[in-house]
Amino acid sequence: MYNGIENITICDHPLLKHKVSILRNKNTGTNEFRTIVEEIAMLIGYEALRDLELEEVPVETPLETAMCPTITGKKPAVVPILRAGLGMVDGVLKLMPAAKIGHIGLYRDEETFEPREYYCKLPEPIDQRKIFVVDPMLATGGSAIAAIDFIKQHGGKDITFMCVIAAPEGVEKLHKAHPDVKIFIGNLDRGLNEKAYILPGLGDAGDRIFGTK
Ligand code: PRP
Ligand code: URA
Repeated sequence: MYNGIENITICDHPLLKHKVSILRNKNTGTNEFRTIVEEIAMLIGYEALRDLELEEVPVETPLETAMCPTITGKKPAVVPILRAGLGMVDGVLKLMPAAKIGHIGLYRDEETFEPREYYCKLPEPIDQRKIFVVDPMLATGGSAIAAIDFIKQHGGKDITFMCVIAAPEGVEKLHKAHPDVKIFIGNLDRGLNEKAYILPGLGDAGDRIFGTK
């Protein structure tokens, strides 16, 4: 819970905090950075999947038949916001290997910081799926809001957003635009600089995951 808002969770597991600190270090190389983003996605996903539905089904143990809890309910979809969101997909898939994957391509205009869409493909029927939108960074909130706008325009309803690091400005803007969306955050940072980068942050997540700078 954040500022009394049920739909916002800031994860507090010490393993996760430790891993975020490794990402922040400018000397952490691409290979380690990628591995750790994936591990963090799994740790955040573990929290975000806490409300999955269970049903009792009969299972033959070596001794008897027992009614055992098994995951049921809506089929999941993981939707990374390209590019950096791709770095979180494998971590979430470790928890739900059968999930389908959608993609939303957005980049931030370097002058206005407004998101620009270049690609959108979602698994059908998107209106019946439990959707997990993933992106390591929630800065101004513009990209997450635009991605969730697209998903809703395509019929998506049950949406959870997961990020590694968020700025308070972005969290508030996203919650205001989409109060129904559950938000899971690895770490809440101090704020944004004049170029809308998160402080202390970890720099440009896409560049660090893909080694492009
Ligand atoms: C980064 C990040 C988010 C966005 C967050 O992507 O991965 O998508 O910025 O910023 P916002 O909350 O202010 O919108 P970027 O635009 O750098 O694209 P990339 O993933 O292709 O590097
Ligand atoms: N996008 C990033 O990759 N990093 C930031 O700090 C802000 C937006």
